[in-house]
Amino acid sequence: MDFQNTLEFAKTLDSSDKLSTFRDEFLIPNHDNKPTIYFTGNSLGLQPKKTKQIIYQELDDWAKYGVEGHFMASRPWVSYHELFPSLLSPIVGGHSSEIVVMNQLTSNLHFLFVSFYRPTKSRYKILMEGKAFPSDQYAVESQVKFHGYSPEDAIIEVFPRESETSLRTEDIIETIEKNKDSIALVFFSGVNYYTGQVFDMKSIAKKAEEIDAVCGLDLAHAAGNVTLHLHDWNVDFAAWCSYKYLNSGPGGVGGVFIHEKHAKEFSLPRFTGWWGHDKTTRFKMDKTFVPMQGAEGWQLSNAPVLSMAAHFASLKVFEAAGFENLLNKSKTLTDYLMFLLKDLHHAKKINIITPFESPDRGCQVSMLIKNNGKQVYEGLMKEGVIVDWREPDVIRLAPVPLYNSFEDVYAFAKKLENLISNH
Ligand SMILES: Cc1ncc(COP(=O)(O)O)c(C=O)c1O
Repeated sequence: MDFQNTLEFAKTLDSSDKLSTFRDEFLIPNHDNKPTIYFTGNSLGLQPKKTKQIIYQELDDWAKYGVEGHFMASRPWVSYHELFPSLLSPIVGGHSSEIVVMNQLTSNLHFLFVSFYRPTKSRYKILMEGKAFPSDQYAVESQVKFHGYSPEDAIIEVFPRESETSLRTEDIIETIEKNKDSIALVFFSGVNYYTGQVFDMKSIAKKAEEIDAVCGLDLAHAAGNVTLHLHDWNVDFAAWCSYKYLNSGPGGVGGVFIHEKHAKEFSLPRFTGWWGHDKTTRFKMDKTFVPMQGAEGWQLSNAPVLSMAAHFASLKVFEAAGFENLLNKSKTLTDYLMFLLKDLHHAKKINIITPFESPDRGCQVSMLIKNNGKQVYEGLMKEGVIVDWREPDVIRLAPVPLYNSFEDVYAFAKKLENLISNH
């Protein structure tokens, strides 16, 4: 599309946007009595207006039925987690039986490592991206130590080349090939939290399979943001959180994908709990654990219904909008942002560290501000533009298709222009 750097053009894009009405389904925080320009859906997505009503319904059912709400609530709590796989299936590209909603992200990763990180004497290494989100680094370090290895020896990190900010797929593939006899697990994020780079998950999973290693993904910044085909890519396992692009509230319940090829692998070690037990006999309360087939068999505890209610409310908005439609809008919205950033009079004062083109990025754009970055960030926040700051000099922002507009993106670029021209 031929973009133009004018307010009128941004407004024209908004008026022809079929998804523009979804903005009205969200509660947008105010700043100085005016709606903010909220660009931190990559950190905490906004609250859908429906959420309160759906949580209240669970509270009402609890008040009305007490324990009987497990069976009598309008959405019975005993099977509450079953509401989610079909709603998440188009978002992560998995079959319903491969998806379960439970716990939170880092906890889920540990449970998945128990089953899928099975080091042997010769194959015990984990390959991951350098500068992964710290929680992933801590989790992986603790896992290798738990199995008796030293992180220095057992963790292989792949970094961008000198003076580059993105990782090259060829370098990832080459590192896997070079270490093919010692890698047990290839564990990558789908989207790097700092740069917003989308990794070539398909090629990474294929290469892992080729060397007979397991492939696992952290999709915190990918789920709800970019196209995923976890089943077709033959990814072994993945986990994500629901509070970023999936708008399900702070600390919201996490999600897990386990490929159907593992659905009946009952010999895999796993940490178990009663909610993973065969549901037809769960309430017989027998001593012996009988796992359910598929991802459900990895559950431990009964559903945290209030957190899941927020997740349900949000996923119904995704369903109504259609995930493909959202991805199409997202591409144009961030393409427009990139166009405006390139067109800044002071474009040289910023360095965009996110790959310029989709599909190498989703909606997030990270930029290094060369002079007085913190003041530029504070200036934006003072003007009601909510972005986030990562030390030492990076501003991240994510225009999300459900509630951000082209006019938001235009207004941001103008404010940034003013602020950087003063520094
Ligand atoms: C990539 C990534 N991994 C892991 C986490 C940790 O998530 P949680 O606190 O839900 O375990 C985050 C949190 O933002 C993240 O961005």
